[in-house]
Amino acid sequence: MEPFILCENLVKIYKVAELEVVALQGLDLTVQAGEMLGVVGASGSGKSTLLNILGGLDRPSAGQVVVNGRNQPPINLLKATPSELDAYRHRQVGFVWQQTARNLIPYLSALENVALPMTLAGVGWRQKRAWSEELLQAVGLWEHRQHRLAQLSGGQQQRVAIAVALANKPALLLGDEPTGELDSVTAQEILALLREMNARYGLTTIIVTHDPQIARAVDRVVTIRDGRTSSETVRRVADTSVNSVQAVEAALAEGFTAVAHTFEEYVVVDAAGRLQIPPDLRQEANIGDRVTLEAMEQGVLIRPIKESDD
Ligand SMILES: Nc1ncnc2c1ncn2[C@@H]1O[C@H](COP(=O)(O)OP(=O)(O)OP(=O)(O)O)[C@@H](O)[C@H]1O
Ligand SMILES: [Mg+2]
Repeated sequence: MEPFILCENLVKIYKVAELEVVALQGLDLTVQAGEMLGVVGASGSGKSTLLNILGGLDRPSAGQVVVNGRNQPPINLLKATPSELDAYRHRQVGFVWQQTARNLIPYLSALENVALPMTLAGVGWRQKRAWSEELLQAVGLWEHRQHRLAQLSGGQQQRVAIAVALANKPALLLGDEPTGELDSVTAQEILALLREMNARYGLTTIIVTHDPQIARAVDRVVTIRDGRTSSETVRRVADTSVNSVQAVEAALAEGFTAVAHTFEEYVVVDAAGRLQIPPDLRQEANIGDRVTLEAMEQGVLIRPIKESDD
């Protein structure tokens, strides 16, 4: 099956005055339909840049990025015309940002906030009412539907933001640090809600975060380092006799504690055969800017070059 998102050798260069900032330098990433992916990495590593490109808010400079959305032909985000990109962003993508001010309109009620994108898209009132109600129920805020932003807690505001992001029935849900301003308990609740929405509506979901707990809430975490995907952590549910979706749901319901997870971290090898050796390993093994590779029975040995005394 075609992946939902395919990024190959993705490059983004920002030009600021005379300076060029290379925000993404040959990033490879594949995301399957319905997958929930976490993206982590140091500040400035290119996480938001990647998300903005995938959401059609910004254009890549070079490389490939193709999205096989729902009920639409594949869209090549490098080559799409401005109107194709607009249509893609409005119909296929939902965003949740860190700052609630960017997600919601303060003087509207929760219900009005959720209905607004549908009004703008010309959805009929009957359908609008039904879908707004379903979404506010789904995020657990039906009782608070008449409340305005200031009358809701930070966590509740992010719940409304998730409902707003889903108003246009997107296929792709993107979150740029959606739990960044929340305490850790509320952050876990929001991650659990995103997981629930991902499963219920079959949404492909990508969450950028600094939250170290993210690996427990998603299928896979990729680490971006210097504008490239450098490693991947895949969660395995330890008890293989349990259907993994049920196990994950049970774990979510019980605050992640019910199921033993094991995490396997992989280093990503890109299409050109390049990989990144994490800085701590490099230091530990005394690896400089040259190594030798040796084929062994179990794999390939990366050996530092001995400093010669002469
Ligand atoms: N609009 C822009 N103009 C110029 N440079 C930019 C722009 N946006 C991002 N950059 C630069 O691109 C690089 C990647 O930025 P990006 O915002 O993607 O990082 P990030 O991983 O999201 O960081 P953070 O965790 O701090 O949000 C940085 O060096 C940043 O300064
Ligand atoms: Mg960012």
